[in-house]
Amino acid sequence: MLMVEVIEKKRDGGILTTEEIQFFIKGYTRGEIPDYQASALLMAILLRGMAAHEIRDLTLAMAHSGESLDLKDVASLVVDKHSTGGVGDKVSLVSGPVAAAAGLPVGKMSGRGLGFSGGTLDKLESIPGFRVDLSVTEFKEQLREIGLVISGQSANLAPADGKLYALRDVTGTVPSLPLIVSSIMSKKIASGADAIVLDVKVGSGAFMKTLADAQVLAEKMVHIGQEVGREVTALISDMNQPLGCAVGNALEVCEALQTLQGGGPRDFREHCLVVAGEMLLLGGKVADAAAGKALAAETIASGRAWEKFRQMVAAQGGELRFVDEPELFPPARFVKEIHSTQAGYLARVQTAQIGMAVVGLGGGREKKSDTIDHAVGLEMLVEVGEQVEVGETLFIIHANDEEAQEIAVRRILGALHFSAEQVEPLPLFYQRIQ
Ligand code: URA
Repeated sequence: MLMVEVIEKKRDGGILTTEEIQFFIKGYTRGEIPDYQASALLMAILLRGMAAHEIRDLTLAMAHSGESLDLKDVASLVVDKHSTGGVGDKVSLVSGPVAAAAGLPVGKMSGRGLGFSGGTLDKLESIPGFRVDLSVTEFKEQLREIGLVISGQSANLAPADGKLYALRDVTGTVPSLPLIVSSIMSKKIASGADAIVLDVKVGSGAFMKTLADAQVLAEKMVHIGQEVGREVTALISDMNQPLGCAVGNALEVCEALQTLQGGGPRDFREHCLVVAGEMLLLGGKVADAAAGKALAAETIASGRAWEKFRQMVAAQGGELRFVDEPELFPPARFVKEIHSTQAGYLARVQTAQIGMAVVGLGGGREKKSDTIDHAVGLEMLVEVGEQVEVGETLFIIHANDEEAQEIAVRRILGALHFSAEQVEPLPLFYQRIQ
């Protein structure tokens, strides 16, 4: 089989066979198919789409591209949670420890930043020493010992996704439904979780811009998960503005720390409680979502969720003094408040632009080889629907380069749209799909 023929077939709108999909995934994982051919096929998939059975074949080929975890010897039921990607989305840092503190084993395989959206692994690596490259043995041991682990794919689980994810990030091939479904579900299948809560984002800071597209994405992921015997629930949530205030790796970790200690922004805290509540429901710890949310809130109020997070940091080699005293995180050199020059209601946010502004500051990757500057980012101080006066602080920008800071400020200001008319606040969630 020739890779160029597989590319041409998809370019011309053809349907790939199971063998062709397996050939691509095996060859690319082994390094036999070069990045340029893989990029061409990814772009053809983005432009032409895939039939349902192609998406399933791609997902399974990726899931089986490395080892698969069987966690039955560790726990009878392991829950995972995954977001389709957003701006300021640090929910896993809170919902994981919360669910684990309520007695539910949480084994999570996360990803890195992708396009304008941040990644849990990049965020966690803001904590000096924190390791995200656990081996399968380490993953299992930690899950057994403390009931919480968040690691990357380098543990040879779904390695095809690890490679494709990095390639998609820099080739404009992220917002493709088949590629998102296969990326997320291959990781989930390989990591052996029995129950999975999917946080499917919709809006200007999500890969799915309309509710209809988000519903299709959610349904496809739920369906594939159920086909392979997993319990899956999807929550469709709003991403028409950053979630919480902080956007940028270390800033987001600090906001997650505050939330785990009972503080944090209202929208973010509420979002985490709902997601954790859903994990507890799926994991059989509670009878309904409301009880799940209440139990989640109790783990924060009692300090158990915070303690669980600390245990995970210690187990993965992170320096605890940083989470205990977040002032120790190295600050960015240039921190500036940006004030509003107009009065009105914040009506609309081009949220992806905010994510890209942070990438431009060095908080994400423009090329595969780029290293991340963990200190940069912003704190958004206004929400959609909020009334703003002239001179009020809109956001605080953290940068390590003054020129990049100016560019980011212009980009963010251009992404905020005001109205003289009153504007309704945005909901947090739209729908639940099971
Ligand atoms: N998260 C993933 O793991 N993969 C995607 O493609 C998008 C979000």
